[in-house]
Amino acid sequence: MQLQLDTQLLYQGTEPCGEIRNPEVPPIYPSTAYIIDDMDDYDYASKGGRYYYSRTANPNRDGLGKAISYLEQGEDTLICSSGMAAISTVLLGLLRQGDHILMSKAIYGETIELADRMLKNFGIEVSFADFTDIQAVSDSIRPNTRMLYTEIIANPLTLVVDLDAVHQLTAEKDILLVVDSTFTTPFVFRPLQHGADIVIHSLTKYFGGHSDITGGSITASEALIRKLRPQYLLLGCCLDPNTAWLTQRSIKTMGMRVKKQNENARLLAKALSEDSRVRAVHHPSLPSHPQHELASRIFDCGCGAIISFRVEDSREKVNDFMHRLKLVKYLGTLGGIRTTYTHPATAFRDEFTQQELEEMGMYEGLIRVSVGAEDIRDLIEDFTQALGAFDKCVAL
Ligand SMILES: Cc1ncc(COP(=O)(O)O)c(C=O)c1O
Repeated sequence: MQLQLDTQLLYQGTEPCGEIRNPEVPPIYPSTAYIIDDMDDYDYASKGGRYYYSRTANPNRDGLGKAISYLEQGEDTLICSSGMAAISTVLLGLLRQGDHILMSKAIYGETIELADRMLKNFGIEVSFADFTDIQAVSDSIRPNTRMLYTEIIANPLTLVVDLDAVHQLTAEKDILLVVDSTFTTPFVFRPLQHGADIVIHSLTKYFGGHSDITGGSITASEALIRKLRPQYLLLGCCLDPNTAWLTQRSIKTMGMRVKKQNENARLLAKALSEDSRVRAVHHPSLPSHPQHELASRIFDCGCGAIISFRVEDSREKVNDFMHRLKLVKYLGTLGGIRTTYTHPATAFRDEFTQQELEEMGMYEGLIRVSVGAEDIRDLIEDFTQALGAFDKCVAL
């Protein structure tokens, strides 16, 4: 067949030009679909025999899922387009009208919004409890409770949830225990080994680790993932192959990054707690932390790399402190290899009243730091010089 130029352009160079064997890194499969030989082949492919449509299944997402299943010691993993996509898939996919979900009060703000704004519209009952108070959790369980949802290290005060104790309340009941373990990472804590049925991550944070990808994951038993997969496909929240590939690339250094970041967090928390201009420091590694003993018992390799600390509640002085920081930047995310910080009260001012913010510990003087992998001496020096914006104070 003699093809014309416009046709040639569509076909030339699309076949491999030489022998391809044993690449050191896996290829990216951007193809949205795979050529089907005939109707028998279609039947085979659509029953899961092989890849045929990218939203349904993709080798890069599956490779990443395998790595995360290994890290979390789970049977199977769905890879989603963001942490929120993972959370939405779990909540919308598993809850029905008339069910009740009990959530921790101290979880990611947009997870609370999702429950308040969407789940309630579908006739799902939503309530919140302090998950560090096991009696309060127990008292809040209703006959129609189908899911308990928590994070392990709560934002922004780094309070730690005793998952084994929570699990005692759900064991042998028809209640799923779901954990968003974004802050902890599987290097610090593996929720499935402490009774969780499902573990969720925002891969945007420590898995990506460089503030350049957005993704999410859901890890659970094969049976639960089989139940969730149809909803996941219909909601269409699968991660694109390029980002899945990049995330898998990033996982290779995750252990090194997270261990250094956790150790830096411990050292920075200690240094800040010894600075007379700082009123309070929140990090589970500190003996002053209310769950220091629990964290020491259940966490491996440090207590996570999120710290928060409180200085004088003066907007003017806090802004001055932000301007004085030379190295560390204000960034609306966390988990990157470079140290960043946010101001929680500013992030949530539109959603909560001042009183509600303060009840959650989000004072004007509270700063949350995501500690990176810099040389700790540089970090301590940067924070110490910027704290010059504040006078010495008496600890609260
Ligand atoms: C604990 C936690 N869960 C979920 C999310 C949502 O993740 P994403 O931004 O990837 O949707 C975030 C985002 O900050 C988070 O901190």
